[in-house]
Amino acid sequence: MSITGIKGMNDILPSDVATWQFLEETARNIFGTYGCREIRVPVVEKTELFCRSIGETTDIVEKEMYTFNDKSSHSLTLRPEGTAPVMRAFIQHKLYNLNPVSKLYYMGPMFRYERPQKGRYRQFHQIGAEILGEDDPRIDAQVLAMLSHYFDAVGIDDVSLQINSLGCTECRPQYRQALVEFLQQRLEQLCPDCQRRYTSNPLRVLDCKSKSCKEATVDAPSVLDHLCDGCDSHFDAVQNYLNMLGTTYSINNRMVRGLDYYTKTTFEMVTNNLGAQNAVAAGGRYDGLVEELGGPALPGIGFAMGVERLVLLLGENGVKTPTPKLFLATMGEEAEKLAFTLLHQLQRHGIQSEMDFSGKSLKAQLRRANKLECAYTLFLGENELADGNAQLKRMADGEQTTIALDGIFTGLCSLLDDEATTSL
Ligand code: HAM
Repeated sequence: MSITGIKGMNDILPSDVATWQFLEETARNIFGTYGCREIRVPVVEKTELFCRSIGETTDIVEKEMYTFNDKSSHSLTLRPEGTAPVMRAFIQHKLYNLNPVSKLYYMGPMFRYERPQKGRYRQFHQIGAEILGEDDPRIDAQVLAMLSHYFDAVGIDDVSLQINSLGCTECRPQYRQALVEFLQQRLEQLCPDCQRRYTSNPLRVLDCKSKSCKEATVDAPSVLDHLCDGCDSHFDAVQNYLNMLGTTYSINNRMVRGLDYYTKTTFEMVTNNLGAQNAVAAGGRYDGLVEELGGPALPGIGFAMGVERLVLLLGENGVKTPTPKLFLATMGEEAEKLAFTLLHQLQRHGIQSEMDFSGKSLKAQLRRANKLECAYTLFLGENELADGNAQLKRMADGEQTTIALDGIFTGLCSLLDDEATTSL
């Protein structure tokens, strides 16, 4: 029996890769314009890193991590997200000494043991950015503007930006207390999961998908009514700056995030087109995280986008895999020899070309050229060699052009060069 892949971990096939490359390349270009530089961190880290940053009572740490002991009995975890590893590297390499503000981005696979469904996988990919060392609300607005810019650039417009503030270590405990007291009155209405976690992580109850929890929390106290002066004016300023930049958003005071490190501004880019998995990107400010992980007291803000979800949203508007420009159809040994060296020259010149090496009939070669969706076919047979001219057929409309064999490489290049990328 053949071996199959692991449930929830997908292959990305050549037919889809062009869309992935487009999404990655656009991120490199746009994030680069805002001064972000790429950082690459390992996919495995010490388990402790995620427990300390994401939080012991979160779903991710409680139930979703791929954790194992290595041969030296060290507990390691496949990264469930990118922020904690990037912070670890930032602190370990003292990147804060190089620049007062560090702007980083990353892309790659993340791992969570969740129940797979459309848009939710066990290995999924994130493209994320983290800005460290600046707590000015203009940075929050800029990060959100950059995220919106990205969605405009890749052509995804059926998304909307929601923002909230989760307060800080000063005001969040008071809100938490108010919420616990509210939930205590409605305990029997909560689902078993929320009955268990309403004291350890009461904010998560606001995010519970169960109908009874939703109903029980309709009138729950709003975090925005409990912000301290500092958090309140920061949130006001973020909104003013977003308005100045023309970045559209709405406020969702029930948005809580599944990771404990957030402070002040949090946000999600949501869609109605992916069923239950409505967040395409998410993030927020985490002003205490760097210090919590043993670094200096530096503020931070960032986000991550789910690439699989972006690909699903692009759907038919994804990027088509490039097809060959030219097929060299041959008949006879001499023609094959000429085609073989010509093929090499054309490929080095950057013109994607194909030929047959299995001695197939001309008809079969043409079928292959059609299947590969080649733009042109060049016919090279004994007659052409004797005549000194070959026929170039444009496959879309059948139009034929005669090309002299003497100098055929240059002749083909001048005809097909619009897509050439490299030169000899
Ligand atoms: P997160 O909300 O856990 O945040 O994930 C960010 C995005 O990753 C989600 O909005 C979603 O698009 C995608 N995603 C998450 N889980 C899955 C999954 N199982 N399958 C497919 N896509 C998924 C974070 O990870 C934070 N580190 C974001 C951040 C960066 N905050 C500050 N900086």
